[in-house]
Amino acid sequence: MHVLMVAAENGALPGGKVGGMGDVLRDVPEALAQLGHEVSVLTPGYQSFSRLPGAQRRAVVNLTFGDRLEQVELFRLPQRPGAPGVADWALEHPLFAAAGAGRIYSDDPPDRPFATDATRFALFCAAVVQVLAGQRLSRPDVVHLHDWHTALVGLLIASAPSAKALAGTRLVYTIHNLALQGIRPFAGDDSSLEAWFPGLTPDREAICDPRYPDCLNLMRAGINLCHKVHTVSPTYAREIQQPAAGDSGGAGLEQDLQRAAQEGRLEGIINGCTYPDAGGEAVPFADWPARIRPEVLRWMGASATVSTADFLALHRLDGWEAAPPPPPALMATSVGRLTTQKVSLLLQAQQDGRTALAHVLDRLGDDGLLVVLGSGDPALEQAFTQQAATSERLLFLRGYSEALSNLLYASGDLFLMPSSFEPCGISQMLAMRAGQPCLVHAVGGLADTVEDGRTGFSFAGEDPQAQSQAMLQCLDEALALHRKPRSWRALCKRAAAVRFPWDEVARAYEAQLYR
Ligand code: GLC
Repeated sequence: MHVLMVAAENGALPGGKVGGMGDVLRDVPEALAQLGHEVSVLTPGYQSFSRLPGAQRRAVVNLTFGDRLEQVELFRLPQRPGAPGVADWALEHPLFAAAGAGRIYSDDPPDRPFATDATRFALFCAAVVQVLAGQRLSRPDVVHLHDWHTALVGLLIASAPSAKALAGTRLVYTIHNLALQGIRPFAGDDSSLEAWFPGLTPDREAICDPRYPDCLNLMRAGINLCHKVHTVSPTYAREIQQPAAGDSGGAGLEQDLQRAAQEGRLEGIINGCTYPDAGGEAVPFADWPARIRPEVLRWMGASATVSTADFLALHRLDGWEAAPPPPPALMATSVGRLTTQKVSLLLQAQQDGRTALAHVLDRLGDDGLLVVLGSGDPALEQAFTQQAATSERLLFLRGYSEALSNLLYASGDLFLMPSSFEPCGISQMLAMRAGQPCLVHAVGGLADTVEDGRTGFSFAGEDPQAQSQAMLQCLDEALALHRKPRSWRALCKRAAAVRFPWDEVARAYEAQLYR
């Protein structure tokens, strides 16, 4: 079978990944190819992928976008090593680089959400349809779209006269994060469906936003116009059928998702992780090569916020070794983008007015340490910086580096991931893989990957207040177990033995999505 994956990110390419979606577009195609399928991955080139050495221009497509005639170039990207069944492609146009050099997404102001990106991805989707209609790629049996950025491909196939030849194309739509829906007006704005495709008058009923009927909701279009809807864990697939406040639950689209489930169109399949041992044997966690010397972290704890680059440089410095301070009794770690999804429970105010994070630090005690690695929302970075300035128990490494995250996965004792919601999550799998048990909020993929008391710790609660309290109680339980070295070691081993292999994921795609 030939599967064409269309997405905003492709983690197999340098600079091709912002979040976990990039990992999926790197690993799933290879796993599917291992099963004998042919997989093409198509993304915008962002004026970067198309410049990779070895990239070849294969076609130019002309299309009308708004009132202009545009040319979009199709590039075949360099062959992935060791994955002959996978072909990476990019469509290139100056607009795709509008987010800035090397950036995939733009920062649209809060009063014009999605405006720049929706226009960029609309042109991309129009070009994808043109490539398919002009058979510039070998004909796919399935077109697999990922998140709102590519949902317009489904809408154009359903309603654009130029896409008539594509009627009947089998479409799969994956929801990586329902919180981002890609909502733009139907008309009356320079970033609207009318501005992109003036003659297009689709039936609005299935694609309008449930709250703003004058707006197109691209996530909703993806859900309602594709044959199969997939999301990245079974628990998240159930959660998004529930109405809920804020960003969790169905985020306004619960009725569409319930209907999709009733029609047998909604599937929850957990993402995978790569393991050094393809055979499924446990990785002895003590053998993981890189381990942070906890003394260094402890020593740096006093200097509050440090950049990840400084940290890596310092880690190689030997001068301080004259009088190394004692290692922390317990090093908790946390790695991830600083967004409300990831850290709001940590910053939740408790009855005494202090944050749950301050309580976490109290509980770690005088010889414990929490190391947080991440960057993101400036206000959240500020909250962590402030906390680190007043507590020696917190080391906040602002920034991101894969090397440093791997060091933290391999060296920490307890990985904290109390996301308010989590479609799948990858960090918890990476921490477990390295033998570090996780303490997680039992939602979405976190509930499906961490088993409370057996491979880690999980908590739940009705609302953020109850959840943050449950998190602290759960931490108490974890700390109590940590005082029993034998039981703790057994827990670490069980965590390290858990497997979410990509070949199983690929087989589930085959059986539940493509067949
Ligand atoms: C999004 C979700 C994350 C998931 C990833 C890959 O980033 O927030 O939970 O792991 O997509 O599917």
